[in-house]
Amino acid sequence: MLSGDSPFDRWYFGGEELPIQKGSGAEGYPALAARGFAVFQDKGCAACHRINDSSALFTDGQFHNTGTGYLRAGRALRPPSVQLAPGIFVVPTVDAETETFTDDGRYEVTGREADKWRYRTPSLRNVALTGPYMHDGSIATLEAVVAFYAEGGGGDPTQDPRTQSVQLTQSDQDALVAFLKTLTSSHVDALVSDARSVTIGERTAGGQ
Ligand code: HEC
Repeated sequence: MLSGDSPFDRWYFGGEELPIQKGSGAEGYPALAARGFAVFQDKGCAACHRINDSSALFTDGQFHNTGTGYLRAGRALRPPSVQLAPGIFVVPTVDAETETFTDDGRYEVTGREADKWRYRTPSLRNVALTGPYMHDGSIATLEAVVAFYAEGGGGDPTQDPRTQSVQLTQSDQDALVAFLKTLTSSHVDALVSDARSVTIGERTAGGQ
């Protein structure tokens, strides 16, 4: 995934501009986003959405349970049987109209109970452009994702403890969102047109 050269990269790695106050008229990395980055590190987001001194993938490549699978499973519960006619009940196996397919995460591959509802940490690069969020698209906006963390995640008692008691004031949340919006690459248009220029199924150079 080649999508660097975001305002964050130019500020953090390029040392291009120091944070400046909004409305000062000067170009630069927004002060609110710089504060959001500090919140991101202080509140433990970077424990999973990793960065280091020379690169920032914003993922550890690992699987974690933030409670989204638990929430999803709760929503997917359906009545155990349906009344077709007075006194005639059936237990549907598939209901094409209302069936909500659940995804048990890493558990589906390993069969280990501990892996239930663990999903791979997504990178946060270009995250402002990639909603809706989480493995099932269940959270529509970045504001709502940040609020989800502020509420302690999905509420699964077995979820990762680092997502259970994150304290975020409204101003922390606003700053986090401002920071996340600075992770958009300046090359997104080129990446998108590059991706679209190849017909699906067509072999690329090299013919593999
Ligand atoms: C314990 C590891 C962990 C911590 C700590 C954590 N995250 Fe996440 N984050 C994840 C995982 C795993 C997902 C994907 C969940 C899913 O797919 O259901 C995710 C998803 C997200 C997404 C949605 C990305 C997308 O493309 O769908 C955002 C935004 C995000 N996290 C921001 C944060 C912020 C901000 C914090 C700190 C308040 C934070 N995360 C703390 C593991 C973590």
